[in-house]
Amino acid sequence: MTWKIEDNSLDNQQLLVNESLFSLGNGYLGVRGNFEEGYREDYLSIRGIYINGFYDETDIQYGEKLYGFPEKQEKMVNIIDSQEVLIYLDDEAFSLFEGEVIDFSRTLYLEKGYVQRNIHWRSPQGKEVKIQFKRLVSFSTQELFAIEIMIEPIDGIQEVKVISEVEGDVRNFVDDNDPRVASGHAKRLTVREIEEREGFSIIKSKTEVTNLEVSCVSSVFINHQTSHQRTVKETSVSESFTCETGKPIRFTKYNVYTDTRKHGKQLVDKAVEIQKELSIQPFQAIVKQQESYLNAFWELTDIKINGDEEMQRGIRFNLYQLLQSAGKDGLSNIAAKGLSGEGYEGHYFWDTEIYMFPLFLMTQPKIAKSLLLQRYSLLDAARARAKEMGHQQGALYPWRTITGKESSAYFPAGTAQYHISADIAYSFIQYYLVTKDEAFLKEYIAEVLFETARLWIDAGHMRNGKFRIDNVTGPDEYTCIVNNNYYTNSMAKYNLLWAVKVFNQLQDTDVMEEIMVKLHLDKAEVKNWLQAGENMYLPFNEALQINEQDDTFLQKAVWDLESTPKDQFPLLLHYHPLTLYRYQVCKQADTVLAHFLLEDEEDLDIIKNTFDYYENITTHDSSLSYCVHSIMSSKLGYTSKAYDYFSKTALLDLNNTHGNTKDGLHLANMGGTWLAIIFGFCGLRVKENGIHFQPKLPQQWEALSFKLRYQKRILELDLNQEYVIYKLISGENLTIYHNEKEILLEQHETVKYLM
Ligand code: BGC
Repeated sequence: MTWKIEDNSLDNQQLLVNESLFSLGNGYLGVRGNFEEGYREDYLSIRGIYINGFYDETDIQYGEKLYGFPEKQEKMVNIIDSQEVLIYLDDEAFSLFEGEVIDFSRTLYLEKGYVQRNIHWRSPQGKEVKIQFKRLVSFSTQELFAIEIMIEPIDGIQEVKVISEVEGDVRNFVDDNDPRVASGHAKRLTVREIEEREGFSIIKSKTEVTNLEVSCVSSVFINHQTSHQRTVKETSVSESFTCETGKPIRFTKYNVYTDTRKHGKQLVDKAVEIQKELSIQPFQAIVKQQESYLNAFWELTDIKINGDEEMQRGIRFNLYQLLQSAGKDGLSNIAAKGLSGEGYEGHYFWDTEIYMFPLFLMTQPKIAKSLLLQRYSLLDAARARAKEMGHQQGALYPWRTITGKESSAYFPAGTAQYHISADIAYSFIQYYLVTKDEAFLKEYIAEVLFETARLWIDAGHMRNGKFRIDNVTGPDEYTCIVNNNYYTNSMAKYNLLWAVKVFNQLQDTDVMEEIMVKLHLDKAEVKNWLQAGENMYLPFNEALQINEQDDTFLQKAVWDLESTPKDQFPLLLHYHPLTLYRYQVCKQADTVLAHFLLEDEEDLDIIKNTFDYYENITTHDSSLSYCVHSIMSSKLGYTSKAYDYFSKTALLDLNNTHGNTKDGLHLANMGGTWLAIIFGFCGLRVKENGIHFQPKLPQQWEALSFKLRYQKRILELDLNQEYVIYKLISGENLTIYHNEKEILLEQHETVKYLM
């Protein structure tokens, strides 16, 4: 039950949501959960297939364009559509919206990696058929989207006709009234080549501006056919088959996608080559490969919860979707909606580093590493952006981007979020703490930390002995362009002090000398980093004994959340930004987040006061908010609150509680579900002296177990209401901290501690 997601709705609104929930992907290719045969004509559908990082550019139209505003915006492109397969029973088209649906189910199998639809249907003229659709996007062959359809004629059918289509005339979805969805020109792709070759249907298309190419090479097989016809049209290729009806009909369609970014200029030849390799593999074999890939994934990444089926399903669904979304090739990252929809236009935000990266880091470090390498590859672009923004030195990572160019047109809640550079630095540091990968430290981490540290020196200034950073926006987008945002300053401090630490650690080595030459770095600069880091100004309010979000936040009027009608949320869709900026009201509380990420920065009673204060003025209009509140509630002993917030993260998309799941899944929130369990309920913290746990199991659960990778070891934790068992499954002996007490784990040994 907890390994599958089922929804049998045929209602238009739910179908739109299901297009996201039942989307399939592998980090490279993503396919929304559309029906092969389509819906009713009057139904709205966001039909889409995407390649992670495959994009076009559009001009940003400003009424008033000022210096440094980005001119172009990158957009993930909806690519060639290979989903369509129409089925006719003696010229009557099969459709779930006509005739009689005797039985219908749609299921996503989380441990098998495919979606299956089972249908028992009677046509308006009384013909009866059973049809089973299976579709998957392969983890082993990243370019492959495969469909299998079994058609079993039951009654009154003389002939079955199947028409399969590959369509190059595709568009992106637009919504001019929602800033979280694209607006403007939707047609980004034009068909450049279309042909039949060696039995394959081939379409190659090019983007309007970036001149990137994508190709889809499709092959179709059907048994018991009596005739076959292929038609190559201007933008589409269709193949139609007629079949005998005595026996069940098996139809398979393998669609192989390649693009210039990953496969180079010979993308069509490459796709044909992959097709040829696949031609000897029956669908069943591809399903088997999928299962074994997922077995290996779940072996390390699954979290088992006893006594709470709903949450168990929720967390598994979220972990599965994270795997489907994460770029694994160093060329791509994780878009805010993964590959499940077009919301936020396929852009990468800080969501990766702060919300999703830790899960991969601690269970699938190879994926974590490729995410870091992708950020590293954008370092030059970040240096260029810093220059463009008037800085003499340093790297400023863009707020939202695909290839490293700033794609945010609204700078107060976009470019001004300088903290993304510190967030990226933070994830490089976490990687080092968890893997102790010295080679990676020398080759990549040092450079990223040094260049981001330089940004802070250039963006901030020393005044009265304190280092201050003015005119930035923290993660809370309901308060913009402020001086000394606590989150930004504390993350910048961490960034600076770690840059110093890494410099000292590598000092006098050949590698360091090379880096110093490459970056024109001298020791005086490092001194500045130390001075700025040690003297970073972190706003604090004496009277309330809390950290202030920024210099002026607490001087503003408090927004009256209680009297705000429910239909006015999220506030960003109902109030001008300036109205929101005038009040103490948070979309997500960034001071609380800083206390989670850098808990040793403040005393516990300050952290508690701060949480209590901001919780009352936080709307959670951002889906990134609940998990942080769950984690901090766990830390502060608010156990039932911790569970309430957690349950909101776990089911946010499955229950469409934010109302916009149709535009894609909330991937950062999904990563937040994992954080809320591991960092929240289990109290994990990764510190320089080791790995710490402070477990408190929610009352609702009987038991919890999971694995973690840490410094070449695999640990397993089993928790119930009374005790926790730590087990070192592999790797050398390790000292860990349980409720701040040092304990030694020996290989294959278990130790048991009362909670
Ligand atoms: C949040 C940002 C986030 C973005 C993409 C916004 O609603 O406020 O923090 O990066 O969504 O998920």
